[in-house]
Amino acid sequence: MKVCFTLCLSLCVYLREALAESDSNSILEDNDVLVLTEGNFERALKQHNQLLVHFYAPLSGQSLGSILEFREAAVALKEAKSDVRLGGVDVKKEKGLFASLNVTTIPSIRLYLSGDKNNPVYCPDLKNSASILTWLKRRKGPSAEIISNLTQLEKFIGEDWLVVLGLFKGLEEDIVKVFYETANDIADLPFGVTGHDEIFSKYEISGDTVLLIRRSKPDKQFEVGSSTLKKDLVHFIRLYEMELVTEYNGVTASKILNSVVLNHLLLFINKTEDGFEELYHAFETTAEKLRGKVMFVMIDVSEPRNGRIMEYFRVRSEEAPQVRMVNLSDNVQYQLPSDQFDAHTVLEFCLSYLGGKAKPKLQSEPIPENWDTQPVKELVGMNFEKVAFNHNRNVIVLFYAHWSSESRALFPLWEELAEHFSEHEDIVVAKIDVTSNDVNLHLGEKYPSIKLFPAVYVERVVPYSGKRKLKPIVTFMKKEIEKAKKEKAKEEEQRKTYLDNQKAAVKEEL
Ligand SMILES: *[C@@H]1O[C@H](CO)[C@@H](O)[C@H](O)[C@H]1NC(C)=O
Ligand SMILES: *[C@@H]1O[C@H](CO)[C@@H](O)[C@H](O)[C@H]1NC(C)=O
Ligand SMILES: *[C@@H]1O[C@H](CO)[C@@H](O)[C@H](O)[C@H]1NC(C)=O
Ligand SMILES: *[C@@H]1O[C@H](CO)[C@@H](O)[C@H](O)[C@H]1NC(C)=O
Repeated sequence: MKVCFTLCLSLCVYLREALAESDSNSILEDNDVLVLTEGNFERALKQHNQLLVHFYAPLSGQSLGSILEFREAAVALKEAKSDVRLGGVDVKKEKGLFASLNVTTIPSIRLYLSGDKNNPVYCPDLKNSASILTWLKRRKGPSAEIISNLTQLEKFIGEDWLVVLGLFKGLEEDIVKVFYETANDIADLPFGVTGHDEIFSKYEISGDTVLLIRRSKPDKQFEVGSSTLKKDLVHFIRLYEMELVTEYNGVTASKILNSVVLNHLLLFINKTEDGFEELYHAFETTAEKLRGKVMFVMIDVSEPRNGRIMEYFRVRSEEAPQVRMVNLSDNVQYQLPSDQFDAHTVLEFCLSYLGGKAKPKLQSEPIPENWDTQPVKELVGMNFEKVAFNHNRNVIVLFYAHWSSESRALFPLWEELAEHFSEHEDIVVAKIDVTSNDVNLHLGEKYPSIKLFPAVYVERVVPYSGKRKLKPIVTFMKKEIEKAKKEKAKEEEQRKTYLDNQKAAVKEEL
C-alpha cells in the first residue's frame, strides 16, 4: 500500500516535471508543495520570502507520514492566504542539494527567510500538520492567542489537555511582555491572553493571574506582579504541567528527567493486578501534599517497554509493588522501609527523606564485625557470594527485609536451625537483609525467602517452599545435600571412566 502510494507519487511528479520544462520560471508543485531541486532552489528562495522546506526520503515509512502531514499543512496555508510557502526536497534524488545545504536529519524541516540559504530556522520535530501551523503562527505573530470573548475561550481551552491562560487587567503592562516571552520558551503548550472582564468573572479572578487549565477546568493559578520574572513563570508552568502522578513512558520520560523537581518517588506496580486502583489513589493523595518537593512517577512493570528502566533500578516485576525514592542530584536511592503502601506510610517515608533521615539503599552494608562467630551468619552484599557459592559448604540462606514482621518472625527458627547443625562443619546457616544489600541472584519471589546453596556445585541454588518449621527444612536440606553428593559422585565416575579410556587409547597408540 505504502509502496504503491509512493510509486504513484513519484510517477505524478515525474510527469509534471516533464510538462513543466517548457516554462523555466515557474516551479513545479505537487499538492501545493513546491518540488525543489538543485536547479530551482535558489529561484524558490528569491520568489518566496518565507520558504518552509521539508527534507524527506520518499521510501522511508517515517518520511511518508510526514509528506502527507506536510501537504495538509500546505493546503491549509494556501487557504489561509499565508505568506509562507512550503517546498519539499527528495533527498534521494537531490543528493547534491541535500549535501550543499548541510542537512543532517531525515525527515526534517527548515524555514528559510528572506532568501538566505545559510541561516535557516531549524524547526522542532513537528509531528503533524496542526503543529506545523501552530509553530509558524507563533513564530510570526504574538506567541499567545488573544482571547476576546467566551466563545473563543471555550475553543481555546479545548485545544489541548493543558493550556496556559494569562489574565491581565491591561494588555499593555510589562508583565504581559514577560508572559509572551514565556510562551516563546514553552512552545509545546498553547498560550492564551485576555483582559476580558467576563473571563475574569468566570474564573473568579480579580488581579493579574496566570492560570493553568487542565482538561478544560481551571487547575492552578499564579498571581503575578511587576516583580514576576520569566523564570518564575516557566518554573510555575513546568512544575504544575505534570499530573500528580506521571506514568513513565516514551512521551513523559524526557519531561520527567528534565523536571524542576529533583526528588522522584517511583512506584513500580503491575497495572493489571488487583488492588492497583487503591495503591494509585494513596500515591496520588500523598503527591498532592508534596507537590513541588517530590515528583511522583509510576512505572508499570507489566509493560515490556519498561524493562530497561526496571533493569536500571534493579527491580524485578515479581517484586512489585515497590517504592523507591531517587535523589536526582546525586542518584542515591532510598527504599520504602515497609510493605504497606497506604498514604500515611508513603507520606512518612517522603518526610523522613526530605528531613535527611532516610537510610540510603546501598549495594552492600559493611561486613559486620564477628559476622561468622554467631550461630547464624549475617551476610551482606560484599561477602554473600564468597560464602554462599562455596565448594565445601552447604549453605542455607534466609533472604529477609529488616522492616518486614513476617521476615523477623523467622529469626528464632533460624537460631534453632543453626543450633541443630552446630556440629556439622560443612553446613552454614545464614541470613541476609536484601533491602540493604544487592545480591546478584534472581530471587524471583518476595521476602522472606529461603534457598539452599549445596556444596560441590558452584552456582546451584535450590529454593525451599515447604513449611517454615525445623523438621521439614532439615529433611529438605539432607535430601538435597545427598542428591548433590550423588550427582557429583556420578560425574566423578564418568570423568574417571573418560580419563581411563583416554589413557588406554594413548597406550594403544604407543
Ligand atoms: C555547509 O557547511 C560548510 C562547512 O561547514 C560551510 O562552509 C557552508 O557554508 C555550509 N553551507 C550552508 C548552506 O550552510
Ligand atoms: C469572539 O472573538 C472572535 C475573535 O476575535 C470573533 O471572531 C468572534 O466573532 C467573537 N464571537 C462573539 C460571539 O463575539
Ligand atoms: C501482572 O498482573 C497480571 C494479572 O495478575 C498477570 O497476569 C501478569 O503476569 C503480571 N505481569 C507481570 C509482569 O508480573
Ligand atoms: C540530594 O542530593 C543533593 C546533592 O548530594 C543534596 O544536597 C540534597 O540534600 C539531597 N536531598 C535530600 C532530600 O536528601
